[in-house]
Amino acid sequence: MFLKHIALVVPVLLFLLLQYSSAKVTYNVLSFGAKANGRSDSKNAFLKAWNLACASTSPAIIYVPAGRYLIASAVTFAGQACKSKAITFKIYGTLVAPSSYNAIGNSEVWIKFHRVNHVTISGGTLDARGAPLWACKSSGKRCPKGATSLGFYHSQNIVISKLRSLNSQMFHILLYACNNAKIQGVSIVAPGLSPNTDGIHLTSSTGVTVLNSKIATGDDCISMGPGNSNIWIEKVACGPGHGISIGSLGWDLQEAGVQNVTVKSTTFIGTQNGVRIKTWARRSNGFVKNVVFQHSTMVNVQNPIIIDANYCPNKKNCPNHVLGVKISNVVYEDVHGTSATQVAVKFDCSKGKPCSGIRLKDVNLKYRSRPAMSSCSHVAGVVSGLRGFTSCL
Ligand SMILES: *[C@@H]1O[C@H](CO)[C@@H](O)[C@H](O)[C@H]1NC(C)=O
Repeated sequence: MFLKHIALVVPVLLFLLLQYSSAKVTYNVLSFGAKANGRSDSKNAFLKAWNLACASTSPAIIYVPAGRYLIASAVTFAGQACKSKAITFKIYGTLVAPSSYNAIGNSEVWIKFHRVNHVTISGGTLDARGAPLWACKSSGKRCPKGATSLGFYHSQNIVISKLRSLNSQMFHILLYACNNAKIQGVSIVAPGLSPNTDGIHLTSSTGVTVLNSKIATGDDCISMGPGNSNIWIEKVACGPGHGISIGSLGWDLQEAGVQNVTVKSTTFIGTQNGVRIKTWARRSNGFVKNVVFQHSTMVNVQNPIIIDANYCPNKKNCPNHVLGVKISNVVYEDVHGTSATQVAVKFDCSKGKPCSGIRLKDVNLKYRSRPAMSSCSHVAGVVSGLRGFTSCL
């Protein structure tokens, strides 16, 4: 009898203990004074919810109901002292920036996470209202540089899921020195002529996955700066935009390289570039190696495949050092579709450090229904299975 009870009670207690220790606490921003009217600054309410979530010893949810929440100045969610094992922002609403661009335009980032671990952003919209700043920039007046909409710095185990980012002043999403991040199902929207509105920018990060996302913007859909490794990008649609780019690299002499990057099952529609590697012609010990571009569809893309080791967007005081960034082991496989220009594949590599180990496999690119052309400078590699395209390799 006694034994029988023990046998029953112990599992029940264990069950309750497990339930309790993994119980989630929820902090609704409305409970801390946030207003869903788009006009009252809700920044402090979000910070209060964050501080409680961060201090909680159980996993926490910060709940943002539907509605528009003004975040009137740059905000930092700091994670260094957090006790919680995981914090999820469950967002049904929209975070909006002030209409005057000066309010966030001199900050590096509008919504910043610093030294956080196990943070998830699920759903929601960020509306940075970048248009007036772009207009200022194109008028030639003095304007602020603009803020990145969402930035994670020195953080680990990040998930950004089903977030929508509209009209960022500068980059939409930035990961800087992050480790293990997953970005999935995001939608990024800004006009094709909005300046420097890169969709997702990665610097010095490792173990980053970008999946099932749609990016329409004015600069690179995804750009990867120095120091990135183990990057996986799959099922991303880009356009308008400047393509998916590694770079720009080679600005500094001492620069961390980029390695182990896979970009697969991507679609580019009307973009300036498809898959691109861009490096300055400056003396640098930076490098790019072990990159795979696979299964890409190009629709009317100006430069479907391009390595530009003489990157110099303003065409002013362009450097021309022959010992730039070393580029090696880059595979282009099953890249097909249409080019908007006759030269669909351009390899313009560094003279002193030629591109090596470049492989073109099953590349089929057409220009006006005829085989497109390629141009090669300081590049070595192999080709196979080419149709509808003439290779200079
Ligand atoms: C390359 O990156 C992938 C993730 O994208 C990872 O699974 C793999 O282990 C990495 N390979 C090497 C050799 O580091």
